[in-house]
Order: sequence, then C-alpha cells, then structure tokens
Amino acid sequence: MGIFSSSTREIPVASAVPEHVAVIMDGNGRWAKKRFLPRVAGHVKGVELVREMVRACLERKISYLTLFAFSSENWRRPLEEVSLLMQLFVKALEQEIERLQRNGVRLRVIGDLSCFEPRLQALIQQAERDTEKNSALHLTIAANYGGRWDILQAANRLAAAQPEKLGQWEEGDLAPYLSMAYAPEPDLYIRTGGEARVSNFLLWQMAYTEFYFTPTLWPEFDTVEFDRAISSYQQRERRFGRTSEQLTESPHA
Ligand code: IPE
Ligand code: IPE
Ligand code: MG
Repeated sequence: MGIFSSSTREIPVASAVPEHVAVIMDGNGRWAKKRFLPRVAGHVKGVELVREMVRACLERKISYLTLFAFSSENWRRPLEEVSLLMQLFVKALEQEIERLQRNGVRLRVIGDLSCFEPRLQALIQQAERDTEKNSALHLTIAANYGGRWDILQAANRLAAAQPEKLGQWEEGDLAPYLSMAYAPEPDLYIRTGGEARVSNFLLWQMAYTEFYFTPTLWPEFDTVEFDRAISSYQQRERRFGRTSEQLTESPHA
C-alpha cells in the first residue's frame, strides 16, 4: 500500500497550509454572460486565473494543485463550445509549458485521454515528460475526467493484475491504480460559481476532504478569495472519525 493511499493517515496540523488543494473552476459561462460576452470569453479569462492560482500555490508552498478542467459529462455541451475548449487547452499547453518549467512545476493530466485528438494527446505527453523532474508544485489537470470512471478503471486494472485475490481486495489494493496514486488525498476542495456539488470529481479521494463553496465566479477568484478559503480550512477540526477530545489529548496521532 502506498504511503498516500489511506484517508485515515496522520491528522495534518490544522494551522498549516493544505498540502493538496483540488478546485472545480466553475462559473466561466456566467461571468461572460454578465458582460454580454460569448461563453468562450469566460473560458479565456479562466485560463488566466489558472496561471494566477499556480503562482499563488508556489508562493504559499502548497505542494499539490488539482484543477477540474473538463468533466466526462462536459461532452454534452454544444459542439462549438467543446471544440473551443479543446483549442484553448492546446493553446494553454503550448504557451504555459515554459513558465511551468521555469517555476519547477510538474504537470500531469488525468482522465480518459483516448478521446482527445492525437495532437492534444501528444502535447500532453510532451508536457508531462518535459516537467517530470520538477517538484516545487505538482499540478494536475483533470480532463475528460470522472470520479466514477477513475474508480472503474482502477478496479479493472486491479482485476487484471490480481485475479487470484478476487473477492478479497482491500482499499489499499485499489488505491495504487487510481489516477492520483502519486498524490496525497486532497485536504481542501474549493468550488467556485455557487453550486454546492461534486459533479463527479475526485469521488474516492475526497472521502475526508474539507469542502469550501463560494459564489464567486472562477474568473473573479483572486488570491484574496483563495486566502479566505485557506483560512476557512485552517479553522476546521479534522477528526477522521475520532472524537474532539482524542484530538486534544494527542493532536496528530
Ligand atoms: C466551468 O465554467 C468551466 C468548464 C466546465 C469547462 P462553466 O462553463 O461551467 O460556467 P457556468 O457554470 O456555465 O457559468
Ligand atoms: C464541473 O462544472 C466541471 C468543471 C468545472 C470542469 P460543470 O459546470 O460542468 O458542473 P455542473 O454541470 O453544473 O454540475
Ligand atoms: Mg458550470
């Protein structure tokens, strides 16, 4: 079992910055609509905010940032919007990779990438390879990702690897096959745009994550807002099933 695979690992120090922040960047469309702009203008602005968020995480020494860019359900959107989103993804990869490299950011993309056009798939592979030695920040982009898809692909791979243990698999057997086996589970999950739901994001990994919902639309989510989310997180008591008294007696056991 990998060191990161359990949701009952040591209780993190409450006052510390979260080690892993996962974000659903929602509200781009509404931001554009408010300004009488096409939805895609919101997505363009949204990419700028990603850049700021990466910088903010580096400054705050947050080690893992995971962003939901495109869900497995987003294919249901109008073809034109889907194709513009793909173009933006390509453009962002081409333009940002050097900056990520300079700042020691390691990029990974999780999700079922097989439906993406070959050029995008190649760019993703290249970007992952170019940044694989970096470790200041682990940036993960979830694209054509779904939490259910992730659990199923992990189960299928486990079944192929350990058929003899069928019926006796434990959590620790499955965890290494999940898309984010390389990262600790998210400490803080932020969703902008006012909806209070998970929308098939990291289902397995968020068993004990602290949730933070804000009505602020993603293109307006600045570092002041980010710090507000972090300080809300720092005020939570993470018990992982224990009682409050147990935590006071031996805080990090
Ligand atoms: C989130 O913004 C970005 C993606 C899903 C790609 P939306 O496009 O969902 O914006 P709203 O929710 O319609 O405002
Ligand atoms: C969730 O946003 C996915 C991303 C931000 C990529 P949606 O806007 O697609 O979520 P729903 O449809 O409101 O749940
Ligand atoms: Mg939305």
